[in-house]
Formats: sequence, C-alpha cells, structure tokens
Amino acid sequence: MSDPENPAKPATTPRTPLPPLVSATARIASLAAKDLMAEDGSAVDRRLFVDEAVYRLEQERIFAKCWLYLGHDSALPENQSFFTTTMGEDPVIVVRDKTGRLRAFLNSCSHRGAKVCRVDSGTARFFKCPYHAWTFSTEGELIAVPRITAVYGDSLDRSQHGLREVPHVDTFGGMIFASWDPEAPTLRAYLGDMAFYLDLMLSRMDGGTEVIGGVHKWTIGVNWKIPAENFAGDHYHVPSTHGAGVEMGFRSQLTNNGYCIQTGNGHSIGSERGGAQQGTAVPTEYEGFMKQMRSELVAKYGETADAFVPIGVGTIFPNMSFLDSARFRAFRVWHPRGVDRIEVHSWCVVDKALPPELKTAVRRQYSLAFGPGGIFEQDDGDIWQSVQDALRGHIGRQGRFHYRMGLGRETTTSERYGPPFPGSCSDMLMTEANQRAFYRHYATVMADPTS
Ligand code: FES
Ligand SMILES: [Fe+2]
Repeated sequence: MSDPENPAKPATTPRTPLPPLVSATARIASLAAKDLMAEDGSAVDRRLFVDEAVYRLEQERIFAKCWLYLGHDSALPENQSFFTTTMGEDPVIVVRDKTGRLRAFLNSCSHRGAKVCRVDSGTARFFKCPYHAWTFSTEGELIAVPRITAVYGDSLDRSQHGLREVPHVDTFGGMIFASWDPEAPTLRAYLGDMAFYLDLMLSRMDGGTEVIGGVHKWTIGVNWKIPAENFAGDHYHVPSTHGAGVEMGFRSQLTNNGYCIQTGNGHSIGSERGGAQQGTAVPTEYEGFMKQMRSELVAKYGETADAFVPIGVGTIFPNMSFLDSARFRAFRVWHPRGVDRIEVHSWCVVDKALPPELKTAVRRQYSLAFGPGGIFEQDDGDIWQSVQDALRGHIGRQGRFHYRMGLGRETTTSERYGPPFPGSCSDMLMTEANQRAFYRHYATVMADPTS
C-alpha cells in the first residue's frame, strides 16, 4: 500500500485507501466529504482543489447556503445607491432601496437572463435591462415592459416577474452579509464567537469603520480554498514566502509568539503578539495610534488583552478574509470563478473618526503591502498559483495535503487570555489548527443533508 500523502512512497503503517473516482454524476450523488479528508481536518484530498464535481457541489451547499460577505455599508451612502458583486458565481446587485433598507437581488433579468446592471457601483432610480429593456425598481419590482399591451395583450402579470431577491441580508459592524438559504440561522448566530473578535476590530473608535479608495479587483489562477485557509492563520509561510520583504525591513521576522483561535462554524483568527509590523525600519504614525488602542483594551480587559490590537488575519467561512495589522486593515473576498480561478475583491478599511492624514498613511501602507501590486500580495499570489499548477496533471491530483502541525495542542482561549475571550486556542502561533477547523466545518456543510 502507498502513502496517500506521497503515493510513490510505501507507507509505514497501513492507511485506508482513497475512494476510487467514478463518473462525476455518480460521485455527486454519493459524495461523502468525510471520504475526502481526515475527520479531524489534518489531511485533505488534493481532488478538493481541482475536481469539477466537488466545485459544483460547493456552489450548491456552500455558496447558496452560507452567509457571504457582500461589502461595506459605507459603499452605500444614500438611498438608491448600489454596487454589484457575486455570491459564489451568482451575480447580485446590492442596493439601499428608496426607504433605506439594504436588499440584494440576482443580477439577471426575469425575461431571458441578461444582467440588468453592468457597472460596479453608483446610484439609480431603476435598473433597465439592456437586452429588451424590461425595467426594475430598486425594490426589485418589474415596473416597465416596452410595448406591453401590443406584444402581450393582458397576459403578462408584472407582479410575478420581479428580480429574484436574496432572502436574508444583514449587517454586523458595517459589514454587509447575505444568504440565499431561506432557513439560514441569523447572521449573529452564524458568526458565533467570531462576532466578539470582529467587534474588537470594528469598534475601536466611535463612529465605526469605512472603506476608503474603492474596491480593487484582480484574478488569480487558484482554487478559492487555498487563500481562504491561508488567511485563516498560516503564519508558517511568512519567513519563507515573504522572506524578501522581511530582509528589506517591510516587516519584522516572525516569532512563534502569538495565537491561532478557532471561533466555531469554520471561522478563525491568528496574530503575532503585538502585531505583524513592529520593529521594522519604517514605522508609521498609525502604529502610535494602535498603541493607544492597545492600552485602552488592556484597561478594559487586563494585561493579556494587548494581544488583540491589532487582531491579525482571519477568515469568516467560507471566503471572506481580513488582515488587521499595526499599519493597515484590509478586507477581501475570494470569489470563486471556476475550480481553478478566483476574483479577489479587496478594500482598505479605516476607523471613520481617524484624522485624514492617518487615513492616507494607512491607505499607502495597504497599497504597498496588500494592494494588487503589493509586495506581500504578489508573494502570496505567485505561490498560490504554483500550487494550482502542480495539481493539474493526472499524478499531481493524487494524495493528500498535510495539516498536522500543532495537532492536539488546542486549549480554550479563556484559559490562555482570560474569561472574555471565546473560542479554542493554540499555544503557539505556528500551527495548522485554524485550517483543520476550516476543513472540519467544510466537511459538515458539504455532507449530504439527507444521509
Ligand atoms: S433579457 Fe432582459 S428584457 Fe429581455
Ligand atoms: Fe502571505
């Protein structure tokens, strides 16, 4: 028998062989996520990142069910302002309607499917489909049909042909989420203990946060789960992948001092103690501000709370990630565009009440580090693409990825940091505990609900 992590090498102990591949249709019907990963998330089948049938099933069971991040409410400053994005691969319009209520609609005409809105953002009194000009209100109703009486007589009931509306849209701290699942839990329940840490990140100053500089969009040839699990807390890659940036003084050398926290439902955060950017050659004024925020949190929760400003990296399952460092804060979504491609949407997020010169400093640091041309962004994108390239062949897709670092060393966060801090926590920074939590939840969501 061969070792599933390395098929060329004989295993030292017998392992269960991987299930044989059968036709895509049969496999969808019989797919049990547990067959594709170890129960504790410590090994994941390479086919999860390249298999079309798995990808289609993710669209149904993850992207049409989970709460997904759409954008920040500061991008919708007035009634009838809107932006377009996607939920999985489904295009949606996110709009603040005439009454100020946040709504989301499938961006596809109820006549014959064309996108009724073809721009990124703006304000609109209505959305007019470019194909045959059916026109919809910002509440999704079909309000005009050209030549309706001449071509339909009285047979077309406009009230039955509005835009398809996403049933649940809600916000947390300015972050807009939505779910297609009519039976979805509340957003607050979905976020669970992650809400506590998001609140630490989003409520540092009165007035909350806002997005500055618009949204950056670019594509990377990689499966969406690779960046999602990286931002969940892959600190181990920093000294090697980002070695050049460290050498040049863009950030400090990584130590193993910090946390990886799993907050349930596949969400997690991870941070070096005191933030990623301390001790570098180019300090910024923002670091001084973060120090002040740190002392305020320590005054509220005690000494150990200094670890939570900034909060670090994190992933909200499935595909929303953030990076809150001592120099800037970024939000991003890894939108799937096929099994081997993503479209990244990325924003720089600041505290609204921050002085303008600090906002500019933060935006500059965001662009240098994690904008589309940012030094760390380029490092990551290149490596992720190389992972996907290596999985394309017949041999490369065999075997399993390895997530056993720090296995069995989790404790509760409150034991390590004190009572208010929820979740499970690892006793070191370099661990794959967050990735294991991501894939354990992935397996739960992907499992056939009827089996
Ligand atoms: S597809 Fe929109 S009006 Fe025909
Ligand atoms: Fe990275």
